[in-house]
Amino acid sequence: MIVEELKKRKLPDLFCIEGKQITTKDEWENKGRPYWKSVIQNEEYGKILPLVQPEISTKINSVNFAGKATWEEVSFKFCYNNKQHTVPTNLIYPKNAENVPFFIYINFRSDIPDRYLPVEEIIDNGFGVFSVCHNDISTDNGDFTNGLAGLFQDGDRKEKDCGKIMYWSYMASRMMDYLQTLPYVDKNRIGVSGHSRLGKTALLTAAFDERFAFSCPNNSGCSGVAISRGCCDKGEKVSDICRTFPYWFSPSYQKYANEVEKLPFDQHCLMALVAPRIVIVGGAEQDVWADNDSQFLSCVAASKAWNLYGKDGFISPDRLPVCGDKFTDGDVGFFLRAGTHYHSREDWNTYMSAIKSKL
Ligand code: GCU
Repeated sequence: MIVEELKKRKLPDLFCIEGKQITTKDEWENKGRPYWKSVIQNEEYGKILPLVQPEISTKINSVNFAGKATWEEVSFKFCYNNKQHTVPTNLIYPKNAENVPFFIYINFRSDIPDRYLPVEEIIDNGFGVFSVCHNDISTDNGDFTNGLAGLFQDGDRKEKDCGKIMYWSYMASRMMDYLQTLPYVDKNRIGVSGHSRLGKTALLTAAFDERFAFSCPNNSGCSGVAISRGCCDKGEKVSDICRTFPYWFSPSYQKYANEVEKLPFDQHCLMALVAPRIVIVGGAEQDVWADNDSQFLSCVAASKAWNLYGKDGFISPDRLPVCGDKFTDGDVGFFLRAGTHYHSREDWNTYMSAIKSKL
């Protein structure tokens, strides 16, 4: 049945690269992966920005979560094109712990804790968390003169220049650079998460930056996990997102707004870039806008990339998902919880237990 559902979507073949089929892990790594990375940059999120090393300064916050954690406020000062911009972040980790697994969390607010970021639960599960507010990187609107966008583009946006999602993702990778320098961090267990537009960001980040061992895109939907072709009637379409949020993407994405069948990729190609690492996808039953069937089918279609590594990828029954499903046995996971569009503690608990069982 799922095979039939997928056929209806008429997805581009993940393994057909410029007219040639690839069949091995080496071909995937040498041809497939670079090809999809380039297509997805050029046609959707925009070209990756040049690497600028920020100047880092840190300050301890006296709040310590009942003495269980250390909270450091870390500032990243970027200087480029004779301009500078500082991004504040929050680094919180269990006291006296070693080999700490970490979430980099891109949030809508900088509050600690925050309704989407239950810091104490995360610490109690043995994880550290490094969070940033997306607006502090560059504002969530069409203004490309502020924050990092001000440094790199200064309002001048060309066809393949990146949109805000790529900026937010860029910052997550700079936070990853910093975690690499800290002795108590387990460098093999750093992941990234975010909700909704920031779930799209979390998926893109792990897809392009192979240092991320896992990604947990929460309710990411259109132009995130969900495949775009054949989206359900009430789900968000590329035409909707291009009209309402053009600045999240490169200008080049606009040309597909009303011709989704002409996209040279679909979102399963982005998912597949995470292989052979871990991706756990969270959906919510009432979040029809994020089109849970399309998120689920993306997991099924991307799974083939894990198979090239001799891994199962996505393990699920041969049917579309229903509320309460939790398919987290493979390296690609999917769950559909009850309720609305939200990054809930229930989501966090599912992500953390799935990650702990695998890494
Ligand atoms: C809108 C948008 C979605 C996005 C969401 C969010 O609903 O259409 O694509 O995921 O905002 O970020 O909250």
